[in-house]
Amino acid sequence: MEGRPPRPAATITPDVAPLPRRALAAYIGPVPFGAPMPRLLAVLALAALPLPALAQPSAIDAQVEALLARMTLEEQVGQLHLGSNGPGFRPDAARAGLVGGLMNFNDAPDVARVQALARESRLGIPLLIGLDILQGFRTIFPVPLAQAATFDPALARQAAYLSAREAAAAGVNWTFAPMADLSRDPRWGRIVEGSGEDPLLNRLFTAARVEGFRAGGLATSLKHYVGYGAVQGGRDYDATEIGPADLRDLHLPAFKAGVAAGAESVMTSLNALDGVPGAVNEALVEGVLRREWGFRGFVVSDWDGVKELMAHGVAADGAEAARKAFLAGVDMDMESGLFARHLPDEIKAGRVPEARLDESVRRILRVKAQMGLFGQPDPDPQAANRAILTPEARAAAREAARRSMVLLRNEGGALPFGPSVRSVALVGGLATAGGDQLGPHAARGWPDESVTILRGLRERAAQGGVALAYAPGCDGECRSADGFAAAVEAARAADVAVAVLGEVRTQSGEAASRVSLDLPGRQAELLDALVATGKPVVVALMGGRPLTLGARLDRLAGLIMVWYPGTEGGPALADVLFGDAEPGGRLPVSWPRTVGQVPIHYSRAPSGRPTQADNRFTLQYMDESLEPLFPFGFGLSYTSFAYSDLRVSPLNGGEGEVEVRARVTNTGRRPGREVAQLYVRDPVATRSRPLRELKAFAAVELAPGETREVTLRAPVRDLGFHLADGTYVVEPGLFEVYVGGDARASLRGEFNLREGLRVPRG
Ligand code: BGC
Repeated sequence: MEGRPPRPAATITPDVAPLPRRALAAYIGPVPFGAPMPRLLAVLALAALPLPALAQPSAIDAQVEALLARMTLEEQVGQLHLGSNGPGFRPDAARAGLVGGLMNFNDAPDVARVQALARESRLGIPLLIGLDILQGFRTIFPVPLAQAATFDPALARQAAYLSAREAAAAGVNWTFAPMADLSRDPRWGRIVEGSGEDPLLNRLFTAARVEGFRAGGLATSLKHYVGYGAVQGGRDYDATEIGPADLRDLHLPAFKAGVAAGAESVMTSLNALDGVPGAVNEALVEGVLRREWGFRGFVVSDWDGVKELMAHGVAADGAEAARKAFLAGVDMDMESGLFARHLPDEIKAGRVPEARLDESVRRILRVKAQMGLFGQPDPDPQAANRAILTPEARAAAREAARRSMVLLRNEGGALPFGPSVRSVALVGGLATAGGDQLGPHAARGWPDESVTILRGLRERAAQGGVALAYAPGCDGECRSADGFAAAVEAARAADVAVAVLGEVRTQSGEAASRVSLDLPGRQAELLDALVATGKPVVVALMGGRPLTLGARLDRLAGLIMVWYPGTEGGPALADVLFGDAEPGGRLPVSWPRTVGQVPIHYSRAPSGRPTQADNRFTLQYMDESLEPLFPFGFGLSYTSFAYSDLRVSPLNGGEGEVEVRARVTNTGRRPGREVAQLYVRDPVATRSRPLRELKAFAAVELAPGETREVTLRAPVRDLGFHLADGTYVVEPGLFEVYVGGDARASLRGEFNLREGLRVPRG
């Protein structure tokens, strides 16, 4: 990097000037699919503007109205039915025009077959073809949580775009993504599907993904509306309790951002929030989503979410479940079939107004028309094959993986491997687990198309003349110690041991809640045996959540979180371990010392009794520190950085921005990329405000010894909070700012905001 001409620091600020209302209307109206989205749209979330309805009915609206006028009641209700591939799939219903969408048909011939059925129906309305495409279709990128660790929403946008291109070529036209659920509880397996604990990061990544998927040709479904990430005890599907102000400050902003970025649909959550299951939460669907935010797309229930209303105890039978969900604002019923079975009778009996049915059908047809599904040719299997696993997609997946890996420990410069490393012992069943490295919900990612860690390291070691011996020790789940002795032998014989440990993919994701965050199976024993050899041991941790290593962490030479790194995970890890690339990641979640600390997050509210070590009647645990093991935003690099000279530009308030500058110096001997983070605190306010909140971040690349000034900007209207009645306020007065490389940032400044803001609900 030395000798490279200086580049300006790339600044990511969470806001831009509001779009003219006309541009906004055009954007949320019929947008051609596959058209690249301007980046600035990612951040419209912040606009407190309600999205305006289109002034004139567009050509699409006219097309929809004409179609609607020709539909029978049954055909209309049919559009509200989302069926799935599997034993319950009824081709005759599709042929009769009684199905609006199908899911889990995911290759070109299958999609062509079911679209042909729909074409045979009286009106020939094409199907939505939905699939969970989170981190890829066939080329798999790192899981969403890992992507958030890049602190680079543009990277996630690109990953979504490339994933969508592959899927769209196979005829899929709708993804059940992005997941916008904020989570602060790593016991909840689905934390892996989101962007972590922070509302700003979550909002920016959600919007970027919506843009990327859409630009690549997929409709999106923001999920799971809302609060699912806060399930009690981290138990998937359990209830949540979230106060009204926290709901608006923490959980709703990413959904609002996704809506502003053009999401076509929103999926309701399975859990109950304050006693109201997602599929019947009229106040949030009709009230917030539609009336306050002007959402014009459609709302889909989650899998069997309508039927589950009976188990939740809010509906006595299928008819009541269907009626209640529909009247609460759900337009499309995923899988349960209860809308199709009961809504015609509910309408005939006058319990459900026909006008409501028209409106729901309109919403679905409008999305189909906007996407150009009417008259769209069937996917061509050969073109679909050519579209997958392209060199471009593989290269992007590799880049995303190394940029997402978070270096958490590096004792005595153990990494990257220096010239003294002539032999490496690779241990751990996950090093050859091509399927596991793709993570949960890996769409059509095939294990044997992954470049495993063994292969990636073996090839790179061979290039450098380094010997590599692989002795797994045990398989991914590590239930048996039979292979431990061979692994220990290999470690003894090598200069360094790399142990790939963590969770197999079924231990993460949906229905994978855990009470322990320890290494599963007998992996800790294996690790202890490796460490006991006295050889330096580097752990490459694979998984979708922080895991706890206890005191053995102190005996490791290195620890790197590789997450589920995707198809190109092996070469990406080799790039990082051998120093061809830096580990670029920063933690999007606080990393607990022990499971007893969770839920854990950096933006805690102050206590009336702040911690004092010598006073037990203050905030503390008796048996553990309050602090996480590694804070939010943290990640080592192969060099080091120092911050100085913080300056805050004066500002008055209103629609302005706080501009904070600081100098960042590369104090090490290698070039590196730092993610400078701006945290803000409002120390005296109507509601007790968090000790700090991330408000902006910026990446800066520095040669050894180089210093650059980085500018971080936060819009004033982003400095506030909600009151319980939904009013949003930014209160004038003193604010503290902190700049640094993680949530403990210590370079401090302040500014005085003379004028605040008050935005009534809606
Ligand atoms: C999950 C959703 C997913 C759906 C379809 C449900 O169980 O909660 O996130 O989109 O299945 O696969």
